[in-house]
Amino acid sequence: MDSMTFVLFGSTGDLAKRKIYPALYNLYLDKKMPPAFSIVGVGRREWSDEEFQASIAQSIRTFSRRPHPDPSELETFLAAFRYCAVDVTDPEAFHPLLSVVTQRETELGLPENRMFYLSVAPEFFDVIAANIKACGLGETTGWKRLIIEKPFGHDLNSARQLNEKLSAAFSEEEIYRIDHYLGKPMVQNLEALEFANPVFQALWNNQYIANVQITAGETVGVEERAGYYDQAGALRDMVQNHLLQMLMMTAMHVPKRMTASDIRAEKRKVMEAVRPLKTEDVWKHVVRGQYGAGEVLGKKVVGYLEEPGVRPDSQTDTFVAARVWIDDPFWQGVPFYIRTGKRMKEKSTRIVIEFKNPLEKLYRQKREKPAPNLLIISVNPDEGIALQVNSKNPSNRGKIEPVTVDFSAGTEDVPEAYELLLFDALRGDSTYFAHWKEVELSWIWVEPILQAFRENLVPLHEYTAGSHGPKQARDLLAADGFSWWLDK
Ligand code: BG6
Repeated sequence: MDSMTFVLFGSTGDLAKRKIYPALYNLYLDKKMPPAFSIVGVGRREWSDEEFQASIAQSIRTFSRRPHPDPSELETFLAAFRYCAVDVTDPEAFHPLLSVVTQRETELGLPENRMFYLSVAPEFFDVIAANIKACGLGETTGWKRLIIEKPFGHDLNSARQLNEKLSAAFSEEEIYRIDHYLGKPMVQNLEALEFANPVFQALWNNQYIANVQITAGETVGVEERAGYYDQAGALRDMVQNHLLQMLMMTAMHVPKRMTASDIRAEKRKVMEAVRPLKTEDVWKHVVRGQYGAGEVLGKKVVGYLEEPGVRPDSQTDTFVAARVWIDDPFWQGVPFYIRTGKRMKEKSTRIVIEFKNPLEKLYRQKREKPAPNLLIISVNPDEGIALQVNSKNPSNRGKIEPVTVDFSAGTEDVPEAYELLLFDALRGDSTYFAHWKEVELSWIWVEPILQAFRENLVPLHEYTAGSHGPKQARDLLAADGFSWWLDK
């Protein structure tokens, strides 16, 4: 791994504190940082290096999965950090930043490899990229890379405009678009599950798979983010990015080689094959919901419209379920169901593959109906794989019953999404970052749904907080003869 400089925009923000510093620190402890590095934090407030370093130490103690740092190790780590106050909208203000970066490069003998991380509000993405270019920070004798957080656009048009502006300063190969779901170990594991197991590989198609169910349920509500969320809704916040990424990862076919470009090309093919929806047909395949008051994890909670900062007549979706068809020879006829919601019964992200059950008939005469085989990939908060198979239960008169064969990853020392993603970006491996084409194709698919929501062509169903979402999401599957698995 090359020695380098890491410039973090938004260094005093919440994401930096909760995720980025703990991730960098854990990489450092695991000896996964470059041999030599400098980290420059950029923010609006006037901070000294000491104040900045103290805030990083605090964030590591509060949010790291290893919250008790060894004092001398922590001190050496913090010594790599410098702070620079910059008004990012002012091109002139970038010159002092350039000086800090080059000064540290000289002091530490670093090659001019520069990683820029934009952990800032989306309205600053393009102006920062432009100013990095204008002040010369982007002219290096080494490599340069740009890591960018979501949201990548608000719709197809704004995403395209943003991409065009970023492309003026960075090439596609230099842009690392974060989708933190791609950093989740079990999402990364999909590739091994599908391609390193001949058993699953042989079954991974419409001959054997009846349907696929991808769920990302959350118990939290809108929290303090109404300003953003009420404009976005679940479709933009979760479906356009995280759920479609999981769908691509699940449905992709074996790449020629296990390289970033081949894997991303396969993902793109899936998204290209996803059947487009006509605005007037969206209601047939998509369920829209908004939570009402209820009880979540034993606590009474208010409905979405009562949440602080939410418009009292808001039509924003806090729940979306959809039936997705992939029109390629492998998946023709296999519905992929996706759903996500706030204030659901449980926090659970999982992918369930339901296999076809041709032996059902064989047993029906004996009035024993074997359950279908299921492959369950638990992504969050538990991480694991389970296979449901049928087996005779000797203590129940030999009746055939489903049993699960379980592998649980445990949660103790599993690296967090941000550790895996940052490590990859530092190595220049973009496999688990969203390519522009994936983002664009996702927006293209989502666009008619956005329009149908806007024009109220899809009913907005209220669901009780603490439930599995509106009943209509169950009807969506029931219409095809299926039901959501594992809803407790
Ligand atoms: C974020 C969304 O991208 O993902 C949030 O903006 C959501 O609204 C979060 O809560 C969920 O992430 P995780 O990792 O907790 O499943």
